[in-house]
Amino acid sequence: MTAELMRSTTDADTVHPSPTADTRGRGLHDLRISVTDRCNFRCVYCMPKEIFGRDHAFLPQEHLLSFEEIVRVTRAGIANGVRKLRLTGGEPLLRRDIEQLVGMLSRLRTADGHPLDIAMTTNGTALAHKAASLRAAGLSRLTVSLDSLDDEVFRRMNDIDFPVARVLDGISAAQAAGFASIKVNTVVKRGVNDHDVLSIAEHFRGTGITVRFIEFMDVGTTNGWNLEEVTPSVEVIARIDAVHPLEPLPARYPGETATRWRYRDGAGEIGVISSVSAPFCGSCGRARVSADGKLFTCLFASGGHDLRALLRAGCSDAALEASLAGIWSARGDRYSELRSAMGSDSSSRQGERVEMSYIGG
Ligand code: GTP
Ligand code: 5AD
Ligand code: SF4
Ligand code: SF4
Repeated sequence: MTAELMRSTTDADTVHPSPTADTRGRGLHDLRISVTDRCNFRCVYCMPKEIFGRDHAFLPQEHLLSFEEIVRVTRAGIANGVRKLRLTGGEPLLRRDIEQLVGMLSRLRTADGHPLDIAMTTNGTALAHKAASLRAAGLSRLTVSLDSLDDEVFRRMNDIDFPVARVLDGISAAQAAGFASIKVNTVVKRGVNDHDVLSIAEHFRGTGITVRFIEFMDVGTTNGWNLEEVTPSVEVIARIDAVHPLEPLPARYPGETATRWRYRDGAGEIGVISSVSAPFCGSCGRARVSADGKLFTCLFASGGHDLRALLRAGCSDAALEASLAGIWSARGDRYSELRSAMGSDSSSRQGERVEMSYIGG
């Protein structure tokens, strides 16, 4: 089937509006669904080897939402205002037949009849093989994680000795496949890869690929986060601006994660995601669904709402939509703002917090 055919819509694919705001007046716009909690990398800031070792218990297959269940959850999200969908992991390309899921999702329309924006965050290791089929299935946008161009540093950060050249090949395959939007996400850890910021920016300058530098966050409980290892975004911007002058760009949408900057000479743009130094909870409209179907209203939530139980108890679409509306309406999360207000040098809330690899980035 061609991409055009797969993207064609029917009445059944079109879901009608029912916008929902949380207790702080924030609408639900962005749904992020983790399709697997597994990953082939062991990035030091996300899945440290000591915790995610050989005997780590990942979710059993039968606990994962099926593709049909994911489509139903997405439709319920759309009915509550969702316009953007992001598939995450773990590593989403490890989920078997992921292209088939993308094809199913690409037939959905937003409440006002536009194609759903479907993005994916991947570590890029399987992209050389999969970029073309993902594009053909209807994936709109791709974000590839890449923390260093220095092979030694890259291998150390992914902690499985994976060479950076193969991820760069994956990015080239994505360009060749014709993705209109490709972004690169770089988590900056002081003393580990902060010296690579300029070379990464320069590598992608003028290519149409937007690099976003991300402050190392205190997400989960296993990555040993501390403030000394965070390179604040102002520093990142200053280092690049000193060589390639930058100017700020307005946000594309309220609650955008990244603050955007453009090269004054017209060579493109970069972004910084400053969850630690400048939290962006104010208009955050992001909901996350774990691979086993729990809905989390914040990246830093300690617990989720079990949508899988509802789905497998045979609930109707209307009941699923109403359940989502109820959960979102009760939401008051603004974790990063609270952590920032405390100004402490450690994470403000100890104890239970879900891991990024489980909930999606
Ligand atoms: P676009 O739709 O392309 O703007 O993507 P996005 O920035 O919404 O999503 P992406 O997965 O690229 O996010 C980049 C990184 O920002 C993630 O890997 C996280 O590190 C961080 N991030 C994303 N969403 C949130 C959020 O809601 N809160 C916090 N604190 N960090 C987030
Ligand atoms: N801090 C910031 N970003 C993180 N990611 C994972 N762990 C962290 C962390 N501790 C993000 C990275 C990666 C995506 C999958 O998750 O952006 O690209
Ligand atoms: Fe895997 Fe992404 Fe986590 Fe790295 S950041 S371990 S690639 S899920
Ligand atoms: Fe949204 Fe929570 Fe992130 Fe704040 S910390 S931006 S509320 S997900």
